[in-house]
Amino acid sequence: MTDKISRRNLGTAALGAAVAVGVIGGVTGGQALVPSAEGDPPDYIPFRSGIHQSGITTPAQQNAVFASFDVTAKATPQSLRKMLSNWTTACDDMVHGSLITVHTPGTDSDSPNDTAEVIDQNPGNLTITIGYGSTLFTAAHGLASRKPARLIDIPAFTGEMIDSRISYGDIAIQACADDPQIAYHVIRNLTRLGTGVVTARWMQAGFGRTSSTSPAQATPRNLMGFKDGTRNIRSNETTALTDFVWADSTSKQDWMIGGSYLVTRKIEMRLVKWDSDGLDDQEATFGRHKVSGAAFAPKNATEFTTPDFNAVDSSGALVIPPTAHVRLVAFEQNNGLRILRRGYNFMDGVSEKGTLSGGLFFAAYMRDPQQFVDLQTKLVAHDDLNEYTYHIASAVFAVPRGLKSNQDWGSQLFG
Ligand code: HEM
Repeated sequence: MTDKISRRNLGTAALGAAVAVGVIGGVTGGQALVPSAEGDPPDYIPFRSGIHQSGITTPAQQNAVFASFDVTAKATPQSLRKMLSNWTTACDDMVHGSLITVHTPGTDSDSPNDTAEVIDQNPGNLTITIGYGSTLFTAAHGLASRKPARLIDIPAFTGEMIDSRISYGDIAIQACADDPQIAYHVIRNLTRLGTGVVTARWMQAGFGRTSSTSPAQATPRNLMGFKDGTRNIRSNETTALTDFVWADSTSKQDWMIGGSYLVTRKIEMRLVKWDSDGLDDQEATFGRHKVSGAAFAPKNATEFTTPDFNAVDSSGALVIPPTAHVRLVAFEQNNGLRILRRGYNFMDGVSEKGTLSGGLFFAAYMRDPQQFVDLQTKLVAHDDLNEYTYHIASAVFAVPRGLKSNQDWGSQLFG
């Protein structure tokens, strides 16, 4: 990191100097002037991370902000490409824990490049992951021939209450970090850099991961109090990642080979109803015990014991109920099918009824969105969890492969 300005080492005196030489003010047109002699900071995850973008198998950080943007009517393919190029530079800076070096077009010449609320903070294990919705791939945007073959729209399901104002979108950004302000800083600054070309469509903050993506992580809990992510795909499961997560040539776009598809669903929980339910009922909903996370069968199972879906009790009934969530979605019950979950808890204040509003922002990566459709079709028909949850937002995005050294998101997408 020789050409970047570390936020952390930018003490008050240095900040003044940086403004004076135009680094913060951007009067140099985005050129960083003060080289940093330090090495990469300790909690830094490389932005150019090889064939796959970071933020998918990266150990799930504790906080996330997801946002979706729509391209404006007055944007041109050229302005969109340029904006994606500017975003790339800014994301590379932010991931490094550096000040943004690109000046926001259309702002005063001494308007700071960076909104500055994360000065003094380390990178915070920030990852920024981009994805593209099906509506982006139009002739007007110059992208009609670039649509990935597997980018289908998620069909409507019975019982859901999808609100289009918080669903869909042309471009998605997933920003995950140890600190929520670091994640929000990304969305704020990309929105700013996108002025005139994109507008924010929806944004969702997540405050606690609900999955593990690395074998080193302990399993977190969702707002229902259950361990979530026990049998998720982990970063070291290379065969499962190839078979179920990484897109391949069947997407019919080179820029998708090594990419993935991201499905997001905002799932509201009926928390009052759930909290008044008995423990037996709660556990039967999942087919797992609440505190330990162990499956109902085999006997003496612990959290990571493989569930026994054939076990029956003395009356011949299945020990893991037919309507239990884990039976319905387990790969043993779905011809081996898996997905990589990377969701977050969310809280939304107080509902119109005066109850607490919150739930799971489900986010999952897969090599084909049909994997989600297959699982969700089964859940809608049989899952005991439906009594306590309902889906209020939906989106699917094609997530490109990692950038090559000579690429930015604009040149990668437009070719
Ligand atoms: C609010 C809604 C949901 C909650 C609270 C929830 C919770 C859970 C919990 C507690 C587990 C067991 C632990 C684990 O292996 O992670 C689990 C497993 C799983 N869930 Fe969900 N889930 C929800 C929605 C969904 C949806 C919409 C899908 C996909 C369509 C899904 C797919 C899975 C899968 C694939 C597993 C792993 C099953 C296995 O292999 O054992 N979940 N979920």
